[in-house]
Amino acid sequence: MSNQLLKGKRGIISGALDSNSIAWKVAQRCHQEGAQIVLTNAPIAMRMGEIKKLAEETGAEIIPADATSVEDITNLYQKSMDHMGGKLDFVLHSIGMSVNIRKNVPYTESNYEYFSKGVDVSAFSLCIRC
Ligand SMILES: NC(=O)c1ccc[n+]([C@@H]2O[C@H](COP(=O)([O-])OP(=O)(O)OC[C@H]3O[C@@H](n4cnc5c(N)ncnc54)[C@H](O)[C@@H]3O)[C@@H](O)[C@H]2O)c1
Repeated sequence: MSNQLLKGKRGIISGALDSNSIAWKVAQRCHQEGAQIVLTNAPIAMRMGEIKKLAEETGAEIIPADATSVEDITNLYQKSMDHMGGKLDFVLHSIGMSVNIRKNVPYTESNYEYFSKGVDVSAFSLCIRC
């Protein structure tokens, strides 16, 4: 059921890779509630995931952005506001990544550079957005 709670609101939703992603469900609900949204993910996820399907369903524009790139994030915000015709009302930061885990590095042998990249993607990228 929709109560159009987000009618007239504009937002950016990050992290929708496939229908298992938390962001996927949030995007569907935001759309049902009347929000206008831009979807974003890392450029590589455009090839791996199914984000185009979600964009069609929700009428959203997709703007790729690597969360570790200040240039990409700046571009994402500017283009999103241009596309939606005004300032943003909300942002969903639903991204995370651990290179140590992806590469099966045992916890006691964690690589510092990999860890730092994880913090950059998972946490600091939200600070840049603020
Ligand atoms: N699933 C859970 O139970 C759970 C619980 C607590 C917290 N979380 C956190 O919630 C967030 C979303 O989790 P999820 O289960 O939907 O996982 P998910 O794997 O579906 O989503 C993670 C997203 O991060 C994106 N991403 C990775 N590196 C990126 C980069 N450099 N730039 C831009 N995007 C990048 C991926 O492409 C992916 O879409 C993560 O931060 C996760 O740690 C999940």
